[in-house]
Amino acid sequence: VNPQVRLWTVRLQGDAEKISPQIASRLTILAQKETDIEVCCQLASSARRLPTADCLPIVRGLLTSQNAEDARLPLLVWWAIESKAAADAGAIVTMLEDQSIWKAPIMQRYVTERIMRRFAATDQRKDLTVCAKLLSLAPNDDDVKRLMSGFEAAYAGRPLVNLPSDLAAALEKFSGSSVTLGLRQGRAAALEEALKTLTDDRADKTKQLQYVQILGEVSQPECVPTLLNVVTKSSDSALQTSALRALGRYDSPQIAPTIIGGFSGMTDDVRAAAGALLASRASWIQKLLEAIDARQFDKSWLPLDVVQRMTLFSDRKIFSLVNQHWPDLKPATSEQLKTEIDRIAAVLQNGVGKPKAGKQLFMNQCGKCHTLFAAGGKVGPDLTTFKRDDLQTMLLSIVNPNAEIREGFNTYRIEIEDGRLVSGTLAEQDSQTVTLRTPEGTLVSVARGEIAEMKAAPQSIMPEGLLKEYSDQQLRDLFGYLRMTQPVID
Ligand code: HEC
Repeated sequence: VNPQVRLWTVRLQGDAEKISPQIASRLTILAQKETDIEVCCQLASSARRLPTADCLPIVRGLLTSQNAEDARLPLLVWWAIESKAAADAGAIVTMLEDQSIWKAPIMQRYVTERIMRRFAATDQRKDLTVCAKLLSLAPNDDDVKRLMSGFEAAYAGRPLVNLPSDLAAALEKFSGSSVTLGLRQGRAAALEEALKTLTDDRADKTKQLQYVQILGEVSQPECVPTLLNVVTKSSDSALQTSALRALGRYDSPQIAPTIIGGFSGMTDDVRAAAGALLASRASWIQKLLEAIDARQFDKSWLPLDVVQRMTLFSDRKIFSLVNQHWPDLKPATSEQLKTEIDRIAAVLQNGVGKPKAGKQLFMNQCGKCHTLFAAGGKVGPDLTTFKRDDLQTMLLSIVNPNAEIREGFNTYRIEIEDGRLVSGTLAEQDSQTVTLRTPEGTLVSVARGEIAEMKAAPQSIMPEGLLKEYSDQQLRDLFGYLRMTQPVID
């Protein structure tokens, strides 16, 4: 039969989504023998749509029979594998138990690294366990190298969270001289190298960020002076912010005085992170309040949501001190909320907003937590599908976030045995760790053994009073954007 006919036949099978065992085996044989590249590409695309049990034998046929020269085929094969990764990781691992697959050129050049990266990227423990399996299956050092480079790529710029023990053991065995993984494993040479890199102004920025983040995940008190130095001396706000986050891990007496002393020189972004840091331990809040009393610290420097977070501590003394310093902090009464909603509704009626300006306001404030038209954060629900044309509901949701908290977005507060408090929405949990997504959008994993107390908090993570700071025209602009049915083009 000529290739054109085979092409159409294969395409039709892909559309069928379900095929008989006879056809499945015919496609598998075709994948092993086919020489026409168009037909091979179509086989890979069709395989992707088929159930795992029919897909993987075709993938395997293509992997082992084809070379890696064509520009499309390797990626099409990878996408077919990737499409099964979430639901059928076990089947992929089983396929890779056959060592001959690892030798295939497409596998070596395109797939090995990507598979590792895919499973390492989700942060889910079941996927990390797959990473450990892959390392144990790799037939030789070159394959281990490919896997490790995929693993590191997945963790570029973000912390390695508590690893399942089988993966930690596999990394120990295979990671060699990698600083990032060495840090994670507490190797002295890796720590020394990381601290050196952090004091070097000309060092690679991505590396610095990576090291700082990992230092916030491990326990290496020696790094505190270096991290404090980054906060006070660096001019890179991304690096400063992550150093502040990392410091949260360490209960050192140097931290609070240095941060409080350096606050006035910080940019707004950095201040928000510095405030979040100080609000994370009772003893630091104490120091902060003392500095305010001594007029060494201007309390207006602290973002309001950070202040609200301080009241989450179960410590009564802190609660009442914070309320003394910020008397307006008490949740507004329902009467006040109603007045505020009516005020804004009237403002909106009295003029037209500019959606483009509104988009800017949205991205600066709401977009830290919410996605709208595919841009923004993941702390709160995606607003694209929310009933944004219903003004009353919108106003109620924004003016009084606590009125009704969207399922899955409850706030949890965890008191850790070392005195820290972490709050956020629940991102993931299993028998060993609980992972919260903080209001800043970062994931914080806490080992269950370290948790002193975990509770659902009645407040929404979304701060009250966000609209109070806008002028009338800004309110119109913001809502002009919030009501859009289509994205605004910049
Ligand atoms: C610190 C993070 C954060 C910020 C900043 C934030 N929100 Fe939210 N928002 C949330 C979370 C979390 C929820 C879900 C919990 C709840 O219902 O209170 C939410 C809920 C909502 C809802 C209801 C959505 C639903 O599906 O129920 C709307 C509407 C909303 N936010 C709009 C806004 C707007 C507009 C802004 C900016 C002025 C904003 N939010 C700023 C975190 C945030």
